[in-house]
Amino acid sequence: MEEMMKELPSGLLRVIVSKKDIKQRVGEIAEKISNDYRDEDNLVVIGVLKGAFIFMADLCRRLNVWHTADFMAVSSYGLGGEESGAVRIIMDLRESITDRHVLIVEDILDSGATLNYLMRILGSRKPASLRTCVLLDKGRSAIETPVNYLGFTIPDVWVVGYGLDFAEEYRTLPYIAEIRKK
Ligand code: PRP
Repeated sequence: MEEMMKELPSGLLRVIVSKKDIKQRVGEIAEKISNDYRDEDNLVVIGVLKGAFIFMADLCRRLNVWHTADFMAVSSYGLGGEESGAVRIIMDLRESITDRHVLIVEDILDSGATLNYLMRILGSRKPASLRTCVLLDKGRSAIETPVNYLGFTIPDVWVVGYGLDFAEEYRTLPYIAEIRKK
């Protein structure tokens, strides 16, 4: 693996998903989505900021189906850095999604609280359909969260890169790596 040859930035323990594997999987997911929505002409792809911005950009550029892009930013209420499960909207969509086919794009499924909240909020706006595309699943979500398109199931460790941060660092790494939990 290319990344293995070089030294990882300090604080990172190992590469979990390489740049090459991400590229290949994003292509496969884009092909599947393009196929599933081939008869639709009103797909809106919704990126969940900030973490999904790089995945979303790569994914949308490989879709062969007409779509528009929109974004939402949400935040978990946390006490002392721990998530409490309550989510709020920081920035809402620009456009109405009523009667549109909606695909939510998330970088990671952890507790499942964020995606669950988004499904509920966006579902109440009466879209024609509502699906989810998630790059990484830690497999620890206690909440029943339907993921229609999944990139990778990863171990339950702290990860950064390809949009994911630790205190706003590491988002632009081209791979997903495990970070030492401080
Ligand atoms: C992360 C990630 C997901 C969410 C997943 O966002 O991007 O949106 O947490 O966790 P959950 O399944 O436990 O809800 P974060 O709050 O770190 O914000 P960011 O994307 O702006 O970095």
